[in-house]
Amino acid sequence: MNYQLCPSILSADFNRLGEQIREVEASGVEWLHIDVMDGDFVPSISFGIPVIASIRRESRLFFDVHLMVTDPERYIADFKTAGADMLTVHAEACRHLDRTLDAIHEKGMKAGVALNPATPLCTLEHVLHKIDMVLIMSVNPGFGGQVYLPESTRKIQMLKKMVQERGLSVDIEVDGGINSETIDLVLKAGANIIVAGSAVFSGDITENIRRLKEKTDAATRC
Ligand code: DX5
Ligand code: ZN
Repeated sequence: MNYQLCPSILSADFNRLGEQIREVEASGVEWLHIDVMDGDFVPSISFGIPVIASIRRESRLFFDVHLMVTDPERYIADFKTAGADMLTVHAEACRHLDRTLDAIHEKGMKAGVALNPATPLCTLEHVLHKIDMVLIMSVNPGFGGQVYLPESTRKIQMLKKMVQERGLSVDIEVDGGINSETIDLVLKAGANIIVAGSAVFSGDITENIRRLKEKTDAATRC
């Protein structure tokens, strides 16, 4: 199983973004979580395509782009050009989820689907076979630094079971409220891609990553 700690730059200091991404990369992380918010699907606005294109020039990390955007199919080609490796769209934000997944794959990117805390797993019933990664939101999307919603643990367990029963290989990502305590819960439940924003970027980035990565590295060895 491929376990990854995936720092979310939403909690970075944007005045020092390049420097902080270099520090993340030097700490041995391979994935970077990039939260795009449109002020419509979620209340806040973060950053968009030009920022991704700019950091792409400086970084070799795998760009895991989480689109909290209404009708994200409008921007698939633009995100590819900007340098995204994976696009994760919200099931709730797509009118034609199946078509959107095909369009992401046609552009040569991996395709993920995110589910808000209130969205049931059965939403994925008929598309799971064409998804590379399911993102279980463990907070309501829109802001960093929120508290982990405990019901997410059971949802991860149920998704893991669903994936195994179908003999699929789908990554399970969890996003929201992950810190050095909640990470144990979600790894045990079956998540393998672990997003952390404030737990990485508040304080000493290198030390925060060392502590969290210890856990994902241990899971890889199991
Ligand atoms: C929230 C974003 C998250 C956010 C997580 O809507 O999708 O990726 O950065 O932040 P923390 O880890 O601080 O909860
Ligand atoms: Zn995110």
